[in-house]
Amino acid sequence: MYIYHIFFIHSSLDGHLGCFQVLAIVNNAATNIRDSRLRHYSSCPLGARDDAQDARAYFTTPIFYVNAAPHIGHLYSALLADALCRYRRLRVPSAAATRFSTGTDEHGLKIQQAAATAGLAPAELCDQVSAQFQQLFREASISSTDFIRTTEARHRVAVQHFWGVLKARGLLYKGLYEGWYCASDECFLPEAKVTRQPGPSGDLCPVSLESGHPVSWTKEENYIFRLSQFREPLQRWLRGDPRAITPEPFHHAVLQWLEEELPDLSVSRRSSHLHWGIPVPGDDSQTIYVWLDALVNYLTVIGYPNAEFKSWWPTTSHIIGKDILKFHAIYWPALLLGAGMSPPHRIYVHSHWTVCGQKMSKSLGNVVDPRSCLDRYTVDGFRYFLLRQGVPHWDCDYYDEKVVKLLDSELADALGGLLNRCTAKRINPSGTYPAFCTTCFPSEPGLVGPSVRAQAEDYALVSAVATLPKQVADHYDNFQIYKALEAVSSCVRQTNGFVQRHAPWKLNWQSPVDAPWLGTVLHVALECLRVFGTLLQPVTPSLADKLLSRLGVSATERGLGELYFLPRFHGHPCPFEGRRLGSETGLLFPRLDQSRAWLLKAHRT
Ligand code: ME8
Ligand code: MG
Repeated sequence: MYIYHIFFIHSSLDGHLGCFQVLAIVNNAATNIRDSRLRHYSSCPLGARDDAQDARAYFTTPIFYVNAAPHIGHLYSALLADALCRYRRLRVPSAAATRFSTGTDEHGLKIQQAAATAGLAPAELCDQVSAQFQQLFREASISSTDFIRTTEARHRVAVQHFWGVLKARGLLYKGLYEGWYCASDECFLPEAKVTRQPGPSGDLCPVSLESGHPVSWTKEENYIFRLSQFREPLQRWLRGDPRAITPEPFHHAVLQWLEEELPDLSVSRRSSHLHWGIPVPGDDSQTIYVWLDALVNYLTVIGYPNAEFKSWWPTTSHIIGKDILKFHAIYWPALLLGAGMSPPHRIYVHSHWTVCGQKMSKSLGNVVDPRSCLDRYTVDGFRYFLLRQGVPHWDCDYYDEKVVKLLDSELADALGGLLNRCTAKRINPSGTYPAFCTTCFPSEPGLVGPSVRAQAEDYALVSAVATLPKQVADHYDNFQIYKALEAVSSCVRQTNGFVQRHAPWKLNWQSPVDAPWLGTVLHVALECLRVFGTLLQPVTPSLADKLLSRLGVSATERGLGELYFLPRFHGHPCPFEGRRLGSETGLLFPRLDQSRAWLLKAHRT
């Protein structure tokens, strides 16, 4: 047997990014296996993959710990994945082309301890809390196709198989592990990341510098994964695919970590200490480390180890919070390479929701309950808020006034007001999509003539809305959904400006001079609304449905492939012209702040 000593290297990495446990192997003659296997890893298809229309795409959220009820941070992760997924379905409508999984992470010391504290059997706690996540996601219209629980039998099979592959490839060995372990974060910590704080009894207790959670000293014989051998293959992967981790600062951060020594990783615990988990195959005295267990969920969902999983792997996009970047960008790709597979296609990383500047977290107890937010602000309203305000590369502070202000101004006043202005009986008495008059609005700007009514700003509006779908596509591609929404919102504002400028309420349907121009103004505004409604579907599915139905846009006319803005302007027929508007005339989005309800009435007139 080899003797392993552990020491820690001080890490100068970014605060939230944590650092690696460093296992220095002092007395191991068999560590250097720089053999043909590593050459094989580097020849794996690691580059950017083609995004062809018929290609499959598999989106995942993290699987959430069941130690406590969900909060808005968890909902935010699921919403980001949901919006990406729904956006992709608008581009590639075939249901078989997109898969979307979420679930719960139910093993490990953290859950074992939470169950003990709650006086429940671990399985009971898992059932209760997993059900809460499922219910929340249903209520929030998360369109996942799969929900996985790591306590399912299919998952144990997958994890044990994966373990067996690593073992057979000589990547696991037994060694003595000694170091700090944080059960709450389920990770190892170097001395430099541990500090002392007064505990409940006043004594100084060791805690994680980063999360403030207690840590304890662990010393035991474990199975160890030869992570150190993957430093260069990981660097090659990331250098060869600069978009592998998005947004870019996170990609950069991971490459920075890889500049430092990459220690081997302990991947099991003594089962006497950790019984709530999957046993190491062939060695019941050891339980598999919960992070190895958890990461394999992404394979279990797609049928691993059966060959069917290959049709979904590696066209995978993981959506994760920055707190678990190290696990997804280093451990997971290394484990995959070790098992002879490619790293995931993309890792999309987002930052945190904070309350008074502090990370919202179950353990800190400063959480905002997502279900009461959905009740208060409506499902679509709250989805819009989180996705419009959350910026992947920055933390964002949550407070209720912000939600009310945003939703009232962008959904109720700007978008709802615009719809109302173009469809209200007084302005549009026939209740149809009016005709566009090319003489009033010629496709060539700058023409003068008695019937030309369009002005320079109107051409600017048409060009802004015409390029909006492409802008939105680019923002989705860069995981900047908030920017996509910002772009839509800015076009909504511009369209309101257009309507305001031409004041259709001052024009008269009975006048042969006014009527063609009045119809044109409404036609253009309705066309803009049709584009907004189509592009908002991934974020506010039922609000977008209401909007598109009101415009008379049928279910088969809502995809991105069909989105052709203002065809009449370019001399093509418009399928909507003359069509009856939908019959549902209710408010698109009621104002939350009733103290300003007079504004609504003003819009109606
Ligand atoms: O880490 N703001 O589970 P977890 C935004 N089981 N997002 C937040 C957040 C906040 N304040 N707090 C949590 C685990 N999240 C593991 C994952 S994956 C194989 C295993 C989100 O319940 C964010 O996505 O602690 C974070 O990564 C995830 O919830 C972690 O949830
Ligand atoms: Mg966490």
